[in-house]
Amino acid sequence: MENGTCIGIFDSGYGGLTILEGIRQHMPEYDYIYLGDNARAPYGTRSFDVVYEFTLQAVKKLFEMGCPLVILGCNTASAKALRSIQQKYLPQYAPDRRVLGVIRPTAEVVGELSHTKHIGVLATEGTIKSQSYNLEIEKLHPGSTIVGQACPMWVPLVENNEFDKPGADYFVKDSLDKLMAQDPLIDTIILGCTHYPLLLNKIHQYLPQGVQVIPQGQYIATSLEDYLRRHPEMDERLTRGGTCQYLTTESATKFRESASLFLHEEVDVQHITLN
Ligand code: DGL
Repeated sequence: MENGTCIGIFDSGYGGLTILEGIRQHMPEYDYIYLGDNARAPYGTRSFDVVYEFTLQAVKKLFEMGCPLVILGCNTASAKALRSIQQKYLPQYAPDRRVLGVIRPTAEVVGELSHTKHIGVLATEGTIKSQSYNLEIEKLHPGSTIVGQACPMWVPLVENNEFDKPGADYFVKDSLDKLMAQDPLIDTIILGCTHYPLLLNKIHQYLPQGVQVIPQGQYIATSLEDYLRRHPEMDERLTRGGTCQYLTTESATKFRESASLFLHEEVDVQHITLN
């Protein structure tokens, strides 16, 4: 594939594949490059500075490969690095490129989906501590009550292919119980981490009746489509060959094996280094 005009999608690891899948189902005609920083994942417990540094390295790599538009398909990177990249890096070094995240599009839809306006967020420790969802939702839907619960075991369960095994039940129930104990009026829960959709079967099993859960992929896709409609100058730069190239900082063989859990198909992968 000729590099130059793909949409870049970045994640700390495999989780962003759930975002890529949502986007590709909705907009299969575009060309994509997926970059997973698997060798340095998880990002969830890393500091702001480190997440910013790693995310910027990945964004620069995708720019180098010619992507004019990069989606941070990772909540932790969106929470800790997006604002600085948009406000400090892009204006000076890449004024014709754009970087978008996954938190705002999710926050936009949740207000329409919740009736009680009591919203729960399940995410990594980093995303919860950043308060990014609280800030965005309060800005967009004033009067909402938002509570968050970090689920430190959920990413390792997915990464280690334990997400559909009996051992996962304890951790799924435990985190859901802790979230609902904070606010029993919650009627809508955001899955604010890209790995969590793989735990959906178990989440539904332990979810209290009448509570709905929002995976992000489909909403990021419709938000991206809307962005491209409002920015035809960007849309015109993107090629439409229906291809997807995969890059990882881990071994290509390891990525290929684990990616099949998320994508249910074999993928062609290339190893890269970030610095
Ligand atoms: N992809 C990250 C997120 O959505 C979760 C994995 C990690 O901690 O790196 O927050």
